[in-house]
Amino acid sequence: MSQSALPRHIAIIMDGNGRWAKKRLLPRTAGHKVGLDTFVNTVDACSDMGIEYLTVYAFSSENWNREASEVTALMELMSRGITKYEPEMVRKNIRLKLMGDIDRFEEKYRKPLLDVQERLSKNSGMTLCICLSYGGRQEIVRAFNLLAQQGKTEITAEDISANLYSAGVPDPDLVIRTSGEYRISNFLLWQSAYSEYYFADVFWPDFDKSELEKAIESYAKRERRFGR
Ligand code: FPP
Repeated sequence: MSQSALPRHIAIIMDGNGRWAKKRLLPRTAGHKVGLDTFVNTVDACSDMGIEYLTVYAFSSENWNREASEVTALMELMSRGITKYEPEMVRKNIRLKLMGDIDRFEEKYRKPLLDVQERLSKNSGMTLCICLSYGGRQEIVRAFNLLAQQGKTEITAEDISANLYSAGVPDPDLVIRTSGEYRISNFLLWQSAYSEYYFADVFWPDFDKSELEKAIESYAKRERRFGR
């Protein structure tokens, strides 16, 4: 595929870890563990392909309502996972950007994540955005409050974009959701106004490189008109 047919920014709703585990009579956390491996493989594949931005939905504002044991397991997995993956991100020159209300995370999980973000901040390869404690509506409300604090009265679309967590990141070209669900679930509501959508039937732990390539091939065949 030619470089110009590649999406510049891919965003992914990594859905189906729980059902993947249930199908195998395993605890939900087993699905999240394999989901972490799929995440690492996907980051590697996108970086190798020359994708400029990859955004993943790892923990939504609504996910706080899950059982405490699952929330804790996810926090530990993400915090440890990113720390363990840091040397590889250094080698691949990946920049990390955390998006969401990370202050809600306990210090012991938040600090390692923020430290890795800081250490990778000068990198110039692919930007990996991880949405944590993230909700699209909450992000837009936050942007309006930031603009109000700045004393803005005539607000433009550019003002809103510049006050989202994603400030400086181009809008996603392709949004992928796994697990056969057809919902947006409060993900990048503002940014995905003109994105192409791709729905994969497989659960996230089974989303391998060939599934990623299928999504990108489908995107490459589409004609984007941006409403024109
Ligand atoms: C959705 O599946 C998945 C999550 C809520 C967690 C996603 C997190 C990972 C894959 C780990 C990624 C790690 C990092 C460091 C970003 P679900 O549990 O809602 O599945 P279900 O719909 O089948 O119940």
